[in-house]
Amino acid sequence: MKEPDGLSCQERNLVLIGFMGAGKTTVGKQVAGRLGFDFVDTDRELEKVLHMSVPQIFARKGEAWFRRQERNLIVRLCAGEQRKVLSLGGGAYLQKEVRRVCLEHGLVVFLDVSWEYWKKERYPRIRDNRPVLQNKTMEEIKGLFFERRRQYVLSHASIAITNRKDAEQAAGRIAAFLRRARESEKAKP
Ligand code: S3P
Repeated sequence: MKEPDGLSCQERNLVLIGFMGAGKTTVGKQVAGRLGFDFVDTDRELEKVLHMSVPQIFARKGEAWFRRQERNLIVRLCAGEQRKVLSLGGGAYLQKEVRRVCLEHGLVVFLDVSWEYWKKERYPRIRDNRPVLQNKTMEEIKGLFFERRRQYVLSHASIAITNRKDAEQAAGRIAAFLRRARESEKAKP
């Protein structure tokens, strides 16, 4: 797979996207370990640079400001050094510029968690510390989940997660996808 910027799959950043609590950070760290790539979680990186937690950034600066910082960071990371695994905050990929740089410079993998699994297993763990989930009914969250999914599917590959076993196997499946992509790239004249 030779993409527009001429980088091979061996070098490209791997970008993990998906809804809040999909497991991007956990899976990302595991994949980075397998590939020998550095791991960057964009939320943690923003918190480090801005000396505030994500909920504090939302409360003090507002969501629009957070989105600008998020976008600038991702553009910088994607255009810079390669051989990284990037785990993106769940709302980042809704920005057109973020989609563009990730698709152009990276290999984008969508962690496609089913609604039922997310609601039962993931939501209870994250409900209190995600500003975007506050003051929303379950119907509204469901609407957001499926509305965002329409952007997430604009990726290079997706990994379906409908239960814990799928979640545990996700890193292995991503590594296998990368191996296949690298092999088919090598086979090309
Ligand atoms: C957000 C997701 C969060 C974080 C922020 C906004 C979103 O990251 O960036 O709370 O809009 O979906 P996770 O996807 O890691 O939960």
